[in-house]
Amino acid sequence: MLRARWPTPTSRRSELFEALRSEAAVSAARLPRGAPFAKLAALMDTTTEGYDFGSNWRSFIDHHLTDERRQEALSSLPAFLRQNSLEGKTFVDVGCGSGLFSWAAYKLGAKQIVSFDVNPNSVACCKQLRFDEGEPANWEVLEASVLDDEAMRTLGEFDVVYSWGVLHHTGEMWHAIENAASLIGPGGLMWIAIYNRADAVGLHSDGRVGSSRFWEREKAFYNRLPKVGQLAMDYTAAMGMVTAYLLSGRNPIREIQQHKQNRGMSWLVDIRDWLGGWPYEYASVDEIFNFVHGRFGYALENVISTNSLRNNEFLFRRPAT
Ligand SMILES: C[S@@+](CC[C@H](N)C(=O)[O-])C[C@H]1O[C@@H](n2cnc3c(N)ncnc32)[C@H](O)[C@@H]1O
Repeated sequence: MLRARWPTPTSRRSELFEALRSEAAVSAARLPRGAPFAKLAALMDTTTEGYDFGSNWRSFIDHHLTDERRQEALSSLPAFLRQNSLEGKTFVDVGCGSGLFSWAAYKLGAKQIVSFDVNPNSVACCKQLRFDEGEPANWEVLEASVLDDEAMRTLGEFDVVYSWGVLHHTGEMWHAIENAASLIGPGGLMWIAIYNRADAVGLHSDGRVGSSRFWEREKAFYNRLPKVGQLAMDYTAAMGMVTAYLLSGRNPIREIQQHKQNRGMSWLVDIRDWLGGWPYEYASVDEIFNFVHGRFGYALENVISTNSLRNNEFLFRRPAT
């Protein structure tokens, strides 16, 4: 018989309470504010153009960003870059979202950091993290799109270009990859994470089901729903995940809490990001490698691949000369 590994009885209630409390706070923060009729109108509003990543990052910053999560984010950078410090390096965070990885680059000693995002709420989150560090002069936060050729040209070149989970959400993924790649200076690195092309219709190892094509349709559908429908989908998916954990003998509380080991992220914030993250594109490892290597001649220095719906991660290096 499959059995869940529960925490000790004394800690069980407080762990469950803590997990539920923080997730409930996030949902409350997403509910529209104002008079009852205005709230109702906002809940029924269907005028969204693409997913509002920035609001999700606002929830993350306000309700989830603990020191523990910061440390997880901090340790994720040296591991994949295979260097313990960024001292003396310039770093650009393309689609910075919460700003957590710009903050990590700052803590790792990068000499200059440029963070930018197209979503004003994401930009505000990143500015808040910069503000908390005393607004250092070597860390700049901008509102810009990676698809804006002119703006990208004026940014210059960097030792490290970091764009995790961004370029596939722009609506023009190949154009976005091209522009991100053009930001790497001679001998510099580009770390990109791009959703894998999953053709299988079945069950993936992380509990998600279906093909990339299916999820493309789901995300388009989600973004046409009024907010109240989106909240219903968020919680239906969350309950589905909890049920899947129980059926496979895993402790849901531990799964939710351990989710932070994924770059400091939060379980429900990631569920919403996955359900709503649209525009959405995807590519196989060879499609990305052939495009970047073929067009720019950059070498692949590190890779983490998946056969599920998750991201493949690539570390490309531009030749020094
Ligand atoms: C899934 S989040 C990833 C955030 C962050 N890179 C991280 O690793 O946590 C995707 C981010 O890409 C941003 N984004 C989408 N299209 C963009 C564009 N054209 N230019 C810049 N940022 C964009 C979104 O606003 C969002 O903040």
